[in-house]
Amino acid sequence: MVRGLAILGSTGSIGTNVLEVVDRLPGRFRVVALAAGSNLPALAAQIGKYRPDLVSVKKRSDLEKLRRLSRKFGTRLVHGPDGPLEVARAEGADIVVSAITGVDGLGPTLEAVRAGRRVALANKESMVVGGPFLRREARRCGAVILPVDSEHSGIFQCLARERRKYVRRVILTASGGPFFRTSLKELKDKTLAEALRHPRWVMGKKVTVDSATMMNKGLELIEARWLFDIEPGKLDVLVHPQSAVHSLVEMTDGSVLAQLSATDMRIPIQYALTWPERADTSLPLLDLGRLGRLEFHEVDPRRYPMFGMARHALERGASFPVALNAANEAAVEAFLRKRIAFRDLPAVVGEVMDAHRETPVDSIAAIHEIDREARRLARRSLKQR
Ligand SMILES: NC(=O)c1ccc[n+]([C@@H]2O[C@H](COP(=O)([O-])OP(=O)(O)OC[C@H]3O[C@@H](n4cnc5c(N)ncnc54)[C@H](OP(=O)(O)O)[C@@H]3O)[C@@H](O)[C@H]2O)c1
Repeated sequence: MVRGLAILGSTGSIGTNVLEVVDRLPGRFRVVALAAGSNLPALAAQIGKYRPDLVSVKKRSDLEKLRRLSRKFGTRLVHGPDGPLEVARAEGADIVVSAITGVDGLGPTLEAVRAGRRVALANKESMVVGGPFLRREARRCGAVILPVDSEHSGIFQCLARERRKYVRRVILTASGGPFFRTSLKELKDKTLAEALRHPRWVMGKKVTVDSATMMNKGLELIEARWLFDIEPGKLDVLVHPQSAVHSLVEMTDGSVLAQLSATDMRIPIQYALTWPERADTSLPLLDLGRLGRLEFHEVDPRRYPMFGMARHALERGASFPVALNAANEAAVEAFLRKRIAFRDLPAVVGEVMDAHRETPVDSIAAIHEIDREARRLARRSLKQR
């Protein structure tokens, strides 16, 4: 059966890996809709190759540049903040890949869930800020949310045949990022270029910076909390520089289940697309003999203060994860624009979290309001730097 695919964030690191998986499984998927931001050359190439029915771009002014191409292939063009929503509910899409970066992914992810689609979720920020809503709506609308993040794909696979009452602990692994072995003294002066040099994964800039601070793992803990409905006290992290073990699940009898694979995002992406089947598409295999050893370390709170902030937000719940995510997005954006130094990232997020007062999260509008307020606090903190 050919399954229709809609991709939110098709020009990004996840989006292009999704299309590589599609290429490796000819006749299995038809790309029906794509949403991108402003990388028009990449998007134009995708339109030419996959001839989708619907394409969304961020800016109206970009539509003209795609007009000739879209006419040739009968592709409908949309733009603006509603564009990704249209893509998320596109007719003929059985699976929606949610791979826009940041809280901008929340609306489209929710739209795909409400359309009852299978959602292959890479956009962890939407689960961090709106986890309870996405869970509830998925139940109500018959949608299935499958993880794309390698750690969550690992947990999903370990839990597949297990009863939840037998789970003692879920452990996500972290590569440690580029600064795992940097001295604490040198850490303060790390540059943007150094933060963007991830030792294991090639990813978009925001998630790469989040890996350097380990905020990424904090966001992933919150994502796991909602994706699998696991209490915060049962969630843990270990640094595992080889990135071969993606997650571990400790059972009540002391057995520990683990999921391992080569460090290649196409593996969890393919599983989310083909689940419950598995496909052999000659993706890289794990060679444990060559790897030699697997190390595991506790997280050092002095090296990764932002991980501690995320852990605290996970435990406090309610509006704290929303404020954390907004503060982090604002701080990382300023760091990517070279407006602040690496050492300012925890300072900005810490200030916002200290100032944040718990607010009820009873609607999507409330999430956006908390997000706005946290960004206002972050701007104030950024101005002082
Ligand atoms: N990369 C990984 O290996 C990885 C692994 C696990 C989870 N994730 C998660 O997956 C998500 C995407 O990560 P990524 O590394 O693929 O990021 P990325 O390379 O920066 O790609 C982001 C994609 O989203 C598009 N986009 C951004 N803002 C948009 C908006 N407002 N409207 C429409 N499209 C928008 C971008 O379009 P343009 O480029 O055209 O502007 C691009 O296609 C993040 O939440 C990340 O945490 C990534």
